[in-house]
Amino acid sequence: MDGQTWIETTRTAYDLVAADYAETLRDRLAGDPLERAMLGAFAELVPAGTGLPVADLGCGPGRITGHLHALGLPVFGIDLSPQMVAVARRTYPDLRFEEGSLLALDLPGASLAGATAWFSIIHAPTEQLPVICAELHRVLAPGAPLALAFQIGDEDLVHRDHAYGHDLSIYLYRRSPDLVARLLREAGLDLVARMRRETPDPDLPPAMYLIARRPAGHEVNTSYPKTES
Ligand SMILES: C[S@@+](CC[C@H](N)C(=O)[O-])C[C@H]1O[C@@H](n2cnc3c(N)ncnc32)[C@H](O)[C@@H]1O
Repeated sequence: MDGQTWIETTRTAYDLVAADYAETLRDRLAGDPLERAMLGAFAELVPAGTGLPVADLGCGPGRITGHLHALGLPVFGIDLSPQMVAVARRTYPDLRFEEGSLLALDLPGASLAGATAWFSIIHAPTEQLPVICAELHRVLAPGAPLALAFQIGDEDLVHRDHAYGHDLSIYLYRRSPDLVARLLREAGLDLVARMRRETPDPDLPPAMYLIARRPAGHEVNTSYPKTES
């Protein structure tokens, strides 16, 4: 699939299912202590007092954006799908949502105090992942954390022709955690934590939750006494 085709296929599919996706996942986070734990850890890692916002990239209907806002973060959402953005704006009228793509974010360098990409890198062909990682590194300020979520696999490509009550066509990848971790490192981000979530259903893949961070710069470790030579 070429670069433009997957973007258009993904946008068309999410435009179609936006309202039903939002309804299906409305209460999911409230019943999910593990996802809340990772998002809570991410929120605590966001450096205080920078005056910079946090972005929820591939925000869909804004359920993660809304949760991070409730945790006290100055967060806004970006999504490829205009219908997802419309649903998010209706659901969270006090928050900012914009159309945009993870591949080329309309944001200045080092302009974010943190970013999440919650199940939104799952549609990008594997060869596009380095582009996304470079964008994430570019927009994060030094010291800013990144939280990613995706289904685990060996970069297996899955095609769906039905989802959220609609006939459609969409492709997604079950991602290799080691590959994603390596690409984040190669883009200049440090790995902070990963959590593998098992699924009770053998037909569904486990999920990976990963926190990385743009290095803060020239950090001097003062926690150990200096040895005299
Ligand atoms: C599975 S949904 C997840 C939505 C939301 N993060 C959540 O957890 O409910 C994937 C979302 O990522 C968006 N998306 C996919 N590829 C994207 C890209 N390249 N740039 C921005 N958004 C993208 C889709 O439009 C869709 O809303």
